[in-house]
Amino acid sequence: MKILVVGKGGREHAIITALHESPTETEIYSFPGSDAIFEIARAVEASGLPDLIEFMKSNQIDLCVAGEESYLVRDEGLANACEVAGIPCWGPPKEAAQLEASKEFAKEFMVRHAIPTGGYAAVENIDDARLAIGGKYPTVLKFDGLAAGKGVAVCPDEASAEEFLNEVLVERKFGEGRLLVEEFLDGPEISIFASVVNDEYQILAPARDYKRIGDGDEGPNTGGMGAVSSLDMFEGDLKEVVDRTIIQPTVEGLGKDGLPYTGFLYFGIMLTAEGPKILEYNCRFGDPEAQAVLPMIGGDFAKYVFEGASGNLSPDLIQFNSGWSICLVSASAGYPESSRSGDVISGFDAVEDARVFHAGTRKNADGNFETAGGRVYVVVAKGDTRQDAVEKVYRESEKVSFDGMQRRTDIGTRNF
Ligand code: AMP
Ligand code: GLY
Repeated sequence: MKILVVGKGGREHAIITALHESPTETEIYSFPGSDAIFEIARAVEASGLPDLIEFMKSNQIDLCVAGEESYLVRDEGLANACEVAGIPCWGPPKEAAQLEASKEFAKEFMVRHAIPTGGYAAVENIDDARLAIGGKYPTVLKFDGLAAGKGVAVCPDEASAEEFLNEVLVERKFGEGRLLVEEFLDGPEISIFASVVNDEYQILAPARDYKRIGDGDEGPNTGGMGAVSSLDMFEGDLKEVVDRTIIQPTVEGLGKDGLPYTGFLYFGIMLTAEGPKILEYNCRFGDPEAQAVLPMIGGDFAKYVFEGASGNLSPDLIQFNSGWSICLVSASAGYPESSRSGDVISGFDAVEDARVFHAGTRKNADGNFETAGGRVYVVVAKGDTRQDAVEKVYRESEKVSFDGMQRRTDIGTRNF
């Protein structure tokens, strides 16, 4: 089976590894990919979506997998273009991908289908934003567009809110777009993943990611500094409640709105005292959650994704391991405000009892990996208990290092 995976980060490295290790024989292509990914996948050069589709057609690609989101909503949309070309695509059409691309679209969808979420107002300018905040803190401010996980600020006070409003609505740091002022929700967070094929879905494993740069959940938001996954995180009737109040109404809502959907759907959920409320949808797997979840999946992942993309959701093709999986991110100096490149990374070969997925690395002229991005790589370890997995992931991560490395010390322990 010839598979092309779109994306270049740690999530795509994990997806490609899971496809590669599947019993189904695969030949994997990667766009745009990374040096680490090219060790198991062939590089594809394309100058844009039409070019990429042309490549898939002329190379008889059987399946396209959308790792990251941007191509889903760019031009006519990756899945839409694949459909025209007759290539099964694991990823939704542009119309449904608005659930991720536009936070206002997502909020209107949640309200229309009575899916529990925080109250909100959408505003255009700083005066209306101040009016919507109404002096009530903490407040949550979200730029309405793709901002690589950095368009959201949870503001404890007026000073921090003013600073973010200025960046987004005056300096236009993320470009043109509206801003959502949202009700602050309190509680532990959980990310739940499902595979959706139109009106059918399968709930995959739950996970928790750690978004702040610093220990104790201090400092600015990042793309994610680590993640934990285990079926044990479905405590009590949590799975049943989330399914009934959030997942099922979402899948039914897509049907009612005439929005066909194929692919992973990510539910970012806050477990509030009033019950689970949805914070956001993502039309793809989470990063770094994918790196923790995918190593827990057995069976034939490649066949599962191919069948799903062809319209046949086949839950029996995969199984979930018991136990815990923990993914620990090592980030470069300056992240998340900036990121330093060119620091040589040593020790990958010493990692024995864990997996490594590369997020922002490249090979230098000597053939060694060096830093080339904010989040540099993750180490993922499994254990029978959460404590086992924590010990192992830290023990193995210690073996790898580079100048200026930033790594949290409480991944897998904080928030449990
Ligand atoms: P989002 O990209 O919308 O998931 O937001 C990123 C992060 O900001 C979430 O994972 C939460 O930690 C936090 N956040 C988002 N919305 C809220 C909210 N309404 N109340 C509290 N925290 C939030
Ligand atoms: N880990 C959060 C995300 O992928 O958006």
